[in-house]
Amino acid sequence: MYTHRSAICLTRLTSALQKITINHGRSECSTSNLKKGIVVGAYVDEKGENIKLTNSAEKVNQDSNNVIMKALKIGNGFLKKGKSRVFYNANEKYGTIALVGIGKEELDEKDFSDGVDPKKQNVRNAAAIGCRSLIDCGMEDIDLSSMGDSESAAEGAMLGTWNFQEYKKEQKPSPKISLFENSDKDEWSRGVVKSNAQNWSRKLTESAANHMTPTLFSKEVEEVLGNQNVQVVVHDKCWAEEKKMGGLLNVAKGSCQPLAFLEMTYSGGSKDDKPIVLVGKGVTFDSGGISIKPSSAMGEMRADMMGAANVVSAISAIAELQIPVNVVGLTPLCENMPSSSALKPGDVIVAMNGKSIQVDNTDAEGRLILADALCYAATFNPKLTLDLATLTGAMMVAIGGAATGVFSTADKIWNDVQCAGNYTGDRMWRFPLWNYYSALLSGYSGFDLDNIGKGKGGGACTAAAFLKEFAPPGDWVHMDIAGVMKSNGQDSSYISSGMSGQPTRALVQFILDISKQSS
Ligand code: BES
Ligand code: MN
Ligand code: ZN
Repeated sequence: MYTHRSAICLTRLTSALQKITINHGRSECSTSNLKKGIVVGAYVDEKGENIKLTNSAEKVNQDSNNVIMKALKIGNGFLKKGKSRVFYNANEKYGTIALVGIGKEELDEKDFSDGVDPKKQNVRNAAAIGCRSLIDCGMEDIDLSSMGDSESAAEGAMLGTWNFQEYKKEQKPSPKISLFENSDKDEWSRGVVKSNAQNWSRKLTESAANHMTPTLFSKEVEEVLGNQNVQVVVHDKCWAEEKKMGGLLNVAKGSCQPLAFLEMTYSGGSKDDKPIVLVGKGVTFDSGGISIKPSSAMGEMRADMMGAANVVSAISAIAELQIPVNVVGLTPLCENMPSSSALKPGDVIVAMNGKSIQVDNTDAEGRLILADALCYAATFNPKLTLDLATLTGAMMVAIGGAATGVFSTADKIWNDVQCAGNYTGDRMWRFPLWNYYSALLSGYSGFDLDNIGKGKGGGACTAAAFLKEFAPPGDWVHMDIAGVMKSNGQDSSYISSGMSGQPTRALVQFILDISKQSS
């Protein structure tokens, strides 16, 4: 038996397999397609000693002369949750079989108190680990067992095997991954659509800032959404001037890269259905401006447009799934740079709604561009406005990479967001929108608002309170996604390290749930 992590050069091994047959203590078996593999699962207890194959795994085991069970019984034949065992040349149809430990079949109440559905997370992780181990073995065509939840299996596979290789001279091809069982195909497709959307967000955010300027971002969105029954309008600086978008214009003016403001319209609902407006922060690079950031890890600020990336990605999935809702997406896009034309600390600017703002810190730029975007959102008379932004480093201080920080004016909407996140594995945690924080931003004699305010601490809450000054009437939700910008590598190991694209799938799920409620 060869295990996935054994120190064998796998490419060499696969070619060697064409010449030799590995004997697993049974009669030899010649496989027709050495590049085709299969991932099946087994329920395992915490110690990894009690192993129960899923029905599909049992079927594959029987078709392979019982090789899986025999191997698990010999030596230290245990299998832990999230680990895989790989079997070569044991099956007529598959060159390689990966068996992966899913976790407990029956979960306890306490397993469900961690903010994400553990059953779904287990399947996502198992799918990702199984597929990765087969890719390591050189498999190009993978059948993946649903392990009881084909949507989660698709998500684990698509998210877990994705990697960013845009700038590599030689790029590794992605394997073809298909559902093994002949059931739950709709759920599988939904999982594929949602994860492809998230991967698009990961691609947009991971891209280097010189390859993802406001102009290049807009071009890519026009290309992708333009083919998807979504109307895309790219507004420019003149338009922003007409609208008196002082926040966006002033942040953008420090860079020679022109600003852009995307307006996307998806009309899946009936004509008189009020739209859901999604707003995403699109700072394609945040140097901090004149209040410049420390240089270490500044490069990560290429992902300061993850709010915008999540919005466009979610809209692409909503359109592909043909969800019966009307959605408008708005993304203000610009760079935040220091230069002789840049905004200076102490400058006073005026947002679209006429409120004056003293810019105490040019690094608190997200709220300035979102202020205008939220004012513009109001012109659509939205049923609900939801914004996403990598807004504050304070999010990371408060709860680390565990969750998206959610600020909501309505309990019901918070509840729906939390349910959607629980379902998709994107943990949500609610923060307060108290007047306590609003008071810290106002009460100055010379201008209406200060962009950082008085008081210490609670940075994510003061930022949210700032946005509240500009939010449209009606229900409004703000998501601070700074903490989840990068994969936390913990409970979501199916999302490999790098920019996470979270919580794109939760956003899609949330809108899918809403569409079911109103129909
Ligand atoms: N884009 C940053 C927030 C951020 C930091 C996101 C780290 C992801 C990782 C935002 O524009 C910013 O700089 N916020 C300041 C606000 C402060 C000046 C009040 C911050 O968090 O330090
Ligand atoms: Mn900043
Ligand atoms: Zn920023």
